Parts: sequence; structure tokens; C-alpha cells
Amino acid sequence: MRYFILFSLLVTLTINLSAQNYDKQIEALLAKMTLDEKIGQLHQVPGDITTGTDVKKDNLLNSIRDGSVGSILSHTNFDNKITMQQVAVKETRLGIPLIFGFDVIHGYKTIFPIPLAQAASWNLSLIEQIERVAATEAAADGQNWTFAPMVDISRDPRWGRSMEGAGEDPYLGSRIAEARIRGIQGRNLNDQATLAACVKHYAGYGFGEAGRDYNSVDMSEQRLREMVLPPFKAAAKADAATFMNAFNTLNGTPASMNKHLITDILRGEWGWKGMIVSDWNSFGETIIHGAAEDDIDASAKCLAAGSDMDMAGGTFQRGLKKALENGRVTQAQIDEAVRRVLRLKFELGLFDDPFKYLNKERNKSQIGKAEYRTLARSAAAQSMVLLKNQNNILPLKATTTKKKVLIVGPYADSRGNKDYMSFWTLGIGFRAYDSTQVVTPAQGLRPALEALGYEVKVAQVGKNGVCDVMAQSTAFEAAKDADIVIACVGEMGYNCGESRSVANIGLPGNQEEWLKTLKINNKPVVMVLFNSRPLTFEWASANLDAIVVAWQPGYETGNGLADVLTGKTNFSGRLPMTFPRNLGQVPLYYNQLRTGRPQEKFGTLWTSGYLDSEVTPAYPFGFGLSYSTVEYSEIRIEKSTIGNAETLTAFVTVSNKGTMAVDETVQCYINDPAADVARPLKELKSFVRVHLEPGDAKPVQFNITPEDRSYWNDAVQFKCDPGKFKLYVGPNSANVKEALFTVTK
Ligand code: GLC
Repeated sequence: MRYFILFSLLVTLTINLSAQNYDKQIEALLAKMTLDEKIGQLHQVPGDITTGTDVKKDNLLNSIRDGSVGSILSHTNFDNKITMQQVAVKETRLGIPLIFGFDVIHGYKTIFPIPLAQAASWNLSLIEQIERVAATEAAADGQNWTFAPMVDISRDPRWGRSMEGAGEDPYLGSRIAEARIRGIQGRNLNDQATLAACVKHYAGYGFGEAGRDYNSVDMSEQRLREMVLPPFKAAAKADAATFMNAFNTLNGTPASMNKHLITDILRGEWGWKGMIVSDWNSFGETIIHGAAEDDIDASAKCLAAGSDMDMAGGTFQRGLKKALENGRVTQAQIDEAVRRVLRLKFELGLFDDPFKYLNKERNKSQIGKAEYRTLARSAAAQSMVLLKNQNNILPLKATTTKKKVLIVGPYADSRGNKDYMSFWTLGIGFRAYDSTQVVTPAQGLRPALEALGYEVKVAQVGKNGVCDVMAQSTAFEAAKDADIVIACVGEMGYNCGESRSVANIGLPGNQEEWLKTLKINNKPVVMVLFNSRPLTFEWASANLDAIVVAWQPGYETGNGLADVLTGKTNFSGRLPMTFPRNLGQVPLYYNQLRTGRPQEKFGTLWTSGYLDSEVTPAYPFGFGLSYSTVEYSEIRIEKSTIGNAETLTAFVTVSNKGTMAVDETVQCYINDPAADVARPLKELKSFVRVHLEPGDAKPVQFNITPEDRSYWNDAVQFKCDPGKFKLYVGPNSANVKEALFTVTK
């Protein structure tokens, strides 16, 4: 034991010493730097892909040569990155290496399901593995820093960027943020297969009015603390290396210059010491917002708020020196920002070896491995959600009578438009990419169904997802002699991601009308939806036999889909975002307040409802069916009265009464019926994924700590009250067992 203690002390000392070493090296370097070189380190310039507007990046190598660039983003060309790094370390006065940043959002060269789909798996180790692969591929391609994870909570399906996050719940979002950072950063930032993470967009971006991207955000401090900040705090505590400003104003102040968010909360309350990069020209956009006069004013306000690096805008280049000369900022503030940039480069090992991530052998050996595809296939299957399965039409079992299956629709066998993926797949190319890398639904389903004895026909109809009259008649004719129809509908890949908000969340491109035509044949129809956000499809829900939310599943779309439709893999996905019945209900989310007049029954006047729609969702948060029947016992609570500092322990037993093994996500919620402020009807506080073979019955334990029971009141106090609580456990937020417990002083 003595030797173990000695060893641990030695390790701790070494880690501290290495951290102190960076301090010494940073100070020594800072002392040599001119003001221009310091401001250069705070300047990030786009590479060969621009994901924003107003960029002028001519003469890039000379800008690096004169020391006015500290970082490059969105650069895909491996050899160019070597050239740029050579210029930085060999042709500048101090040889400070560049850091290369990139949007690695759901895979880099191997494309996985979109993050919202991954969230639907509720499988934290899967998500960590995905990020591990993405980081390995990106680091082998010369990237050092990914602009991920995006941890914005979103309740608005109109917003195109819901697809990048983990949905509507702060607890699920926090756990997923932690898993992503573990996967991206690994154990050590200077490992050749890890990247620096960048938690974004700080903060409130998902609450833009009307679901419009970049739009204004107004909310109380209480809601900010309760709904928006938890995943950011979790990420800060998980040692995320960097954060990124959001584009939006928060209560009138642009996030990039929001001292309350950055200095008071992130750096002050949470004690986070990392580096903050703007979003694309978001420093310059403070002027467009009307919260800054010019580049000098914008530079002063953003730096003084605690932001460090200027992405793509050049605001600091044009205004920071003058801001210093005018006394709007101090040299110390500039030095502090430069220290954070230098520290990140030291921690990544770029000073020791500026070319450690630009290794040609690793670039060949670490990208596109077969095992990455295997993981992508499993991830696609685990993220898909079964919403309806009338008469157990699924899974498609072996047939000896040569049953005929028609795979039809605008997304039956589509090539191009980043279909089955999203805009955020820049690692494989911006517009031009190798679409043959994607296994389409038809390519995956045909061999799997033929092996089960089916006769398979494929009819890819509609252009760019639009189902015109021709598409309707082709499908109608094709379906005439089918025994079962698999209709593949949804969104075009390019329409998923940033700057892709929609005002209508019905099936796009006249697809629901197309489905009605298809159904005239009155054959069983399985609708497979390729979507990046909750969509509405009331007619389909009522009239089609089975509905699968496939999201945008990535490279292994067709194989993952075949695995779940044939029952090779049982469905296990659960919705991370509420699916409303109609657009008028938006925003609609499970953790809403009760109101003083909750509507228990549609049509009850003088209650919080509509004359023309139910208030309940089409499919609630946490919902998802499988091919098994899982029964939940009543909740057992050891001690139903506990002290305020105690943890409640509760159990349920879940039993698989079906004939197929299943991975069941058991969810645990609480409600505090009386507090200083109104509390949500339910708050997710824990979940457990449990594997159940047919006949298995397993106990699942939940612990509800004092922190779980705590909440923010309107005096911005985080407190835990004594009193009565409700505990809920179930397969989703609307179908739960209930128990009461009491907390005494
Ligand atoms: C974009 C996005 C941000 C991304 C950055 C670099 O505008 O808002 O998420 O990381 O610019 O592409």
C-alpha cells in the first residue's frame, strides 16, 4: 500500500510539474511577443471551406508568415496544412505553431447518425465510442480541435440545428455532453488520436424566437440556469478544453460580449479556465446586432467579457490594437487571452512537435477502417425509433411464399444532396463528395429481404425529395402487386443543419399526399422517415401500419435499417425530443409547467388548451416501441421519508414478456408539487439501459440525491426544499409508475 501511495504522489507531482512547466514556457514566450504577434494568436482564418459569410482570406500564407494568424479552421487539404504549419514554425519570428479547427459533428470521414439520432439511443458508451472514432480520423488528418459537442437544448423543431444536439432535456443533454467530451479528448490532449473539444454555442442558441436561426433569445435567469446551462456546466466540469460563443443575443446582449455568461458564470462560478473562440464572425456581428459601434468597440466589449479568439471575422485584427491605445482594454486582458491560446497549443503537444498530427503514415492507416463501419451500422440501428407497429407487421420474417416487397419513395435509393446525412459532414467534402459511400435503404434492404425469401422491387421516385404527380402514379402502379410496401420519406440531407430552419414541419415535398395515393392500394405500408428534427404526419400516424423514425443515419443507413426491420436487431431507440401533433403546438416539451389551469381533457373550456387540437403530443419525450413487451413492477421505495441531506433509493423490476431480447431504457423522473417557484410536471433525473433476454426480470435501482431534488428559484438560489415529492419510473415520459416520498428538514 505504501508503494501505491508513493506512486500516486509521484504521478500527481509530475502532472502538476508539467502544468507549471507550461506556465513557465508560456510566460517566457509571451515576454518575447510583440503586440501584433499577440493579436495574431487571437486570429483564426478559414481554410478551404467557409461555413459562414463575409470572409476574405486571400494571401493566407503571407498572413501566416507575418505572424497575424494563430489558427486555421475548416481546412480539408492534408498537404496544405503541412505547408501552412511549415510556414508558421519556420518562417515566422517566434515559430509558434498553428492550431487547426474543424467541425467534426457526426463523424469525420466515416459518417455516423446525426447527434440527435445518437441521442435517441440513450447509449452513452456508444456515443463516446463514436466520438473516439471521429477524433481518431480527424486527428490523423491534421485536425487538432473540433467544434463539438454542440450542447444547445432545443424544444423547437423549426430550428435546423436541433439535429446537432441531444434534444429537449437538460439531464440527458448533460450526460451526453460528458460522453462526447470523453470520446473527443480521451485521457490526454497531446495523444495523437485526440482533439480539443469545443462546447457550443454558449448560450441559449436553441431558444431563438420562432425557431429562426440566429434569432433573439429572451429568458429569465431561472430558466437559463435550469434549462440551458446544465449541459454547459457538465461540459466545463468534464474539462472541455474550449467553448464557443453563440450568435444570438441573450436578453439583449450578444453572447460574444456577454460578461454575465462568460466572466460571471463560466469563468467565475464554475471556475473554468479554458479558451473561448467566437462563432463565425460573431465578434463583428455585435456591430450588426447594434450592440457595438465599430471594430474597436466590438473588440473591446468581446475581449473584456472574456472571449479570446476571433473566428473568421478579423474584428480583432482591425480593432483590438486601437482598443488598447484608447484604453478600452488593458495589455493584461490581451495577455490573458493569448495565454489561453498558447496553453491549448502546449497541451496539444504542438510546441513539442508541430507535425505530430500531420503524419502521413497515420493519415493512411487511421482513416476509414472497417470496424468504424461496424460501429456506424450498430449506431444507426440503435438510434432508430419504432413509433407504430400495428398488428405486428414488423419484423419482416422469413417467407416461403415469395412475398413481394416494394421499397419506394424519394429516399428509397437516393444519391446526392448529402441524403441520409446532413450539411455537417464537411470532412467528406462541402458540395462534392463520394455518395457511393452511403449504403442506401434499397442497398441494405434488398439482400437482407431476399435472404428471407422475399421478392424485392425498388422504385426511387421524386426529385430532391419532392413527390410530384409522376411520383404518385409511379408509386401507385408499383404498389399494386406488392404484399408489403416500405415507403422512404423525409428531408433532404442538405436541408439538415445550420441555417436550415423551416416554417412548416409537415412531411416536405408533398410527401403526405403521395403516401395517401400509395395507400389507395390498401396494402400494408411501413413508413420510414429520414428526418433531422421532429416532424408532423397526423394522417400517416392514423392510417399507415408501421412508422419508423430513422433520422439521418449516416453511411450505414441501409444496413442499420435492414437490421431493425428484419429483427436482426431489436428496436431500442427512444425520442430525445417531443413529436407534436401539429405546428401550432410548438414549442411543446415534456418538462412543461402545470399552469394554474391544466387541461386534463380535450375541449374543456377555461383550461390551457386549444379549440382545434389536443394539447398532448403525437409522440412524447422518451417514447419508442420494440418487438418485445416489457412489464414494469410498481415502484419500491426503501425509506419513503428521508432527511433533506439524504438520498432516496427506489427500485422497479422490469420483465421481458416477449420472445426477443431487448435493451430497455428505464427512465426516472421527479416532480416537486410545491416549491418557491412552479416546477415542471416531470424532470428526468436518471435513466438506465438494461438488457433483457426473453423471460428476464431484473431490478433497476434509482438514487435521487439532494442535488437531483434541487432547483433554481427566482432569487437565483439553487436550493433543495423539504416537502412531498412524486417519483415516476417508466418506458417514457407519459407512461410511468408513480410513488410518493417525503423529505423532512
Ligand atoms: C458556424 C457554426 C458553428 C461552427 C462554425 C465553424 O457558423 O455556427 O457551429 O463551428 O461556424 O464552421
